[in-house]
Amino acid sequence: MKFFASLALMAATALAGPIGVRSTHATSEFKLKTHGATIDALNNLYVYAYHSGAGLNDAVLSSNASEATPFWITNGTVYADLEDSYSWGLSINGDTDEASWEPVVIDADGGESGYSISHGKLIGSTEEEFDGWLVCPWYHNAPQLFGLVSGFDAVIPSSCSKVTLEVIYE
Ligand SMILES: *[C@@H]1O[C@H](CO)[C@@H](O)[C@H](O)[C@H]1NC(C)=O
Ligand SMILES: *[C@@H]1O[C@H](CO)[C@@H](O)[C@H](O)[C@H]1NC(C)=O
Repeated sequence: MKFFASLALMAATALAGPIGVRSTHATSEFKLKTHGATIDALNNLYVYAYHSGAGLNDAVLSSNASEATPFWITNGTVYADLEDSYSWGLSINGDTDEASWEPVVIDADGGESGYSISHGKLIGSTEEEFDGWLVCPWYHNAPQLFGLVSGFDAVIPSSCSKVTLEVIYE
């Protein structure tokens, strides 16, 4: 009896469906890897969500592929799979401060639209005047991802480099 009861429980659990979002997107998930940096140390780095506060993450980079956050894209919004049920959306953090570049964040409130994948690379949001990705050593003691905003004559610090982001399906 006990055996059958646990079988029934297993069946019920299976029917209840996956918890979180990972399993529904697993087939189309990808990692983001830097490419084309003029500084060697900033190439072949993977984007991961660095928890920076409640519902907030910075897009930080690691050479360790096991640390890479899986992402997926739907209708122009890029989501991070942090293995829970929140929609962690990618944003280039607003251009209200008229900055030449802005940090990329992964926040629980949804993210921007207008992202696309072209020739195997992630292109930033059309909601921003996107002018490419930038990687700089930053305050998490690791390289961090920024979006360049066009229309400004960006003076890029020598420790930073423009990069492209390769989309690598799992
Ligand atoms: C890479 O990351 C994984 C997962 O966090 C960890 O277990 C492993 O030790 C890391 N490898 C290196 C070389 O740091
Ligand atoms: C897709 O994105 C566009 C632009 O943000 C939005 O207007 C539309 O409602 C979205 N469609 C779906 C199915 O989410």
